[in-house]
Formats: sequence, structure tokens, C-alpha cells
Amino acid sequence: MTAQQLDSNGRLRHLLTLEGMPRPVLEDLLEKAQACHDSAIGRAQDGRQALAGTAVCTLFFEPSTRTRSSFTLAAQRLGADVMSFDASTSSAKKGETDTDTLRNLEAMGVRGFVIRHPDDGAVARLAGVVQPGTCLLNAGDGRSGHPTQGLLDMLTIRQAKGADFSALKVMIVGDVKHSRVARTDLHALRALGAGEIRVCGPANLLPGADDPVLAGCTVGDDFDAMLDGVDVLMMLRLQHERMSEGLVPSLEAYHARWGLTAERLRRAASGAIVMHPGPINRGVEVTDEVADGSQSWILRQVANGVAVRMAALQALLG
Ligand code: NCD
Repeated sequence: MTAQQLDSNGRLRHLLTLEGMPRPVLEDLLEKAQACHDSAIGRAQDGRQALAGTAVCTLFFEPSTRTRSSFTLAAQRLGADVMSFDASTSSAKKGETDTDTLRNLEAMGVRGFVIRHPDDGAVARLAGVVQPGTCLLNAGDGRSGHPTQGLLDMLTIRQAKGADFSALKVMIVGDVKHSRVARTDLHALRALGAGEIRVCGPANLLPGADDPVLAGCTVGDDFDAMLDGVDVLMMLRLQHERMSEGLVPSLEAYHARWGLTAERLRRAASGAIVMHPGPINRGVEVTDEVADGSQSWILRQVANGVAVRMAALQALLG
């Protein structure tokens, strides 16, 4: 996939995954995103015409709130013509394949596609059928990847803790096994040289010990024992399907062992930050007090999402 997303000069052609992305490419995107920050949140006007005349389509085969709206806003803030396709109200309902849908929109002159899909590897597969010059951005595929979420998470950590991650202790907590966010963050944290990565959650919701995504991580299910000295706490959403699958006994039982409370947060490093990709189940992964407290960077992650998506769209289509 790395070969597919970089051209022979090492320039980004599609944004499919952070797995294997060279550190300089990652850092360059983060610096560009930081430079877009004020424009992204409406405080500055620079770059407003950078993609004027370029058509971008958000093509979502799965629901989304933050990712879709922030990609839309990012493309609009760059002056692109933005259209949106929602599988639940389109010909996908009549059985049209995703490839045909994509090719039809491409025939209308769309050059950038932001795609969310329930299948692992779907965006890379679709990248194999588009014309040269058409760019695909993965907005989350199956359990595999969510590169712009990984980038916005890294940008948030840089803003809070500085660009040198070598002394940082970062912990990812929750259903790591089914989380494309966790997988993506793990690739990015390793590429950026994070000092220590801890992965914690119920044993049946952690990837197998032989899964390369856990390489170099400290892994365990005892949240209380693993909190000591942690600088960044990345809490993951507990997906409702895990309850119906019987993987979690009850929300209360989950919260009691893996929920982040103010009391637990006091045991992390002083100045630790709390992150969550959203949507939050309040009272399950985090209490209201923590989600809305002074150590929460959750809404800053959302703001950074617009900046990162502006940077990614410009890197590919600019
Ligand atoms: C995540 C996703 O859909 O991958 N949300 C998001 O994009 N911010 C995480 C989740 O739904 O658990």
C-alpha cells in the first residue's frame, strides 16, 4: 500500500494508510496542518482559493459526523467545489457497485475522493481503478486505517507536548482490537519515535500478542497498574456491537475497570492530556468531569481535524 500512495519521487499520490509512511512525509503533513490551523477554524483567510475549480467528493458507505463534516469544511475553506455522496440515499441501494459509483463521479470531473467504507482495504482497492490524477483519501476503512485521524491525533500531541515524542509515555485504552483509530495511531506513534507506548483494555479486546501492530508496546489489562507516569491518554469508543457480541459483560463493568475518572487521571503524570476520537459514550470510556475538564483535548482534536484535512487535500490536489 505504501508503494501505491507515494509516487516514484516520494510524493503523496493517495492517502491510504499511515502504516509504513516515512517519518519526513508524516512530519511535513503535520507542519503543513499546523500552518493551516488558524485558517481551518476561521481565524485567518489564507489559502482560501488554493483548490478553486477542483471538485472533491465525500463518498461515505458508513456513517460519520466529525470526519465527514470536517473534510467538507476543509475542502470548502480551500475553495474546492464539494459534493457529497451518501450510500444510504443513492444507487448503492439499487445494487450499484462502489467501483461503478466512483467511476461515474470521476467521469463528472471529480478529482479528489474522500472515502469511508466498511471493508478493510477498500480504499486501496478503489485506488487501483481510478485515472492518473484522481486522488483518494481514506476516511476510515473497516478495522484497518484512518490516516487523517492518526494525523490529527499526532498534531494534538505535538501542540500539547512538543514535537519531540522521545520522552513521552502514551497509553491507548479500550477496544484496540477493533479500532482503526488505535491501529493508525500506533503506526504514527512508532514512526514519530514515541518513548513508550502502553496498550490497555479487556484481554478479549486486545490484538493477539503476535500482531505486529503491538511491536514494542507494553500490553496489559490492568488500567490502574498501567497509569503511572502516563503523559497522553487516548481513550477509544466502546462500540455497541461489542455488547451484543457478548465481549463485554455490561457498560458498568467496563467503566469500573477501564473508564477514565478524575481519580484515575490524578494518578497519571501531572499535565497529562486526555484524547478521544469521538463519538464519546459518556460515563463509559470517560466521565463527564474528565471529558469536559481542563486536561481534555478532545475538542482541540476536532479543530485539528479540519487543519489536517486541509493539509492533506492540498498535498494531494494542490
Ligand atoms: C472513529 C471512526 O469512525 O473510526 N470516529 C472518528 O472518525 N472520529 C472512531 C469510532 O467510531 O469509534
